[in-house]
Amino acid sequence: MISRRRWMSGSAALAAASALQASSKNLVISSANGLRACARAMEILKSGGDTLDAVVAGVSINEEDPEDDSVGYGGLPNEDGVVELDASVMHGPTRRAGSVASVRGIKHVSKLAKLVMEQTDHIMLVGEGAVRFARAYGFKEENLLTEKSRLAWLVWKRSLRDAAGHNNWTDGLDAPPSKPSAELKRMFPEAPEEWLAYAWDRACNPPTGTINCLALNAKGEISGVTTTSGLAWKLAGRVGDSPIIGAGLYVDQDVGAAGSTGRGEENIRVAGAHTIVENMRHGMTPKEACLDALKRISRNYGDDLDRLRKFDINFYALRKDGLYAGASLWNGGIRQGRLMPRQFAVHDGDKSRLEPCVFLYERKA
Ligand code: GLY
Repeated sequence: MISRRRWMSGSAALAAASALQASSKNLVISSANGLRACARAMEILKSGGDTLDAVVAGVSINEEDPEDDSVGYGGLPNEDGVVELDASVMHGPTRRAGSVASVRGIKHVSKLAKLVMEQTDHIMLVGEGAVRFARAYGFKEENLLTEKSRLAWLVWKRSLRDAAGHNNWTDGLDAPPSKPSAELKRMFPEAPEEWLAYAWDRACNPPTGTINCLALNAKGEISGVTTTSGLAWKLAGRVGDSPIIGAGLYVDQDVGAAGSTGRGEENIRVAGAHTIVENMRHGMTPKEACLDALKRISRNYGDDLDRLRKFDINFYALRKDGLYAGASLWNGGIRQGRLMPRQFAVHDGDKSRLEPCVFLYERKA
């Protein structure tokens, strides 16, 4: 039997959620790599399109872009050099969801996740089953590994060492000694310097990029999508948070939506997107809701900054009334000695812009 206290707190949450007036404005937010995604999604919202169609069309830009190495075509591969993609979608008005994980050879995995939602009696398809489903619907199969990603993968393999400092993927013991940078140049003579610097950086700092995109239309309808190539150099079959409903993405038409980018393992352990939406249901602002989820991640490490410093994770939240936030564990990441502040993309009808994320902890360059 439900206790009076639990019933009261449940009804207080319902009251807080129903007190939210739906925004009458179109609004799209996304991770920082989503300026173009927000713009395309906004065009679709303005022409009266559905919120899920809008965000999926938006992130398709990243899925096609070889320069976004965290999503779709050109995404960094797993440890075997194979690109494996994950994605999820949620549609607020119909309260439906779909997702795919560990998909090889299909770049538009957000569309595939939407198709799982629309055309199956399931929520999630993985691996070979997801690819067979894609084939049945005529998706094009292609090699998603670009030359630049292949170079980064080879450089990563060459950077590994056994306990004796040896690696079979480097020159033999009998090779003349040389500096790592000269070795790279000799091995990839055609590669531009800039690619080699990029490859070395990615080998040392495996990214967990991803794009999350959330949209609210003038009727107050909300949807979201998250799509990714996941953690670079992961074990084959590793699934991150992006396709996990409640972790990488969650939408509740009564409350709002949330999503995540960054180290998925941390997010899965706090069911981040669901936690954020529940926090908003109970009356928190998007900013408070995201910071609370980040505190739970910090708590999992006993708030030990030395360990927390080794990763980053970002949340995005959009409330039904149009309030929104982007939030990160850290104020920024260090790239070549410089602090790159964490930001997220917003489009509220005029043009896409970047706004700063709120953060839990601050690091210095
Ligand atoms: N957040 C993306 C991943 O960890 O796979």
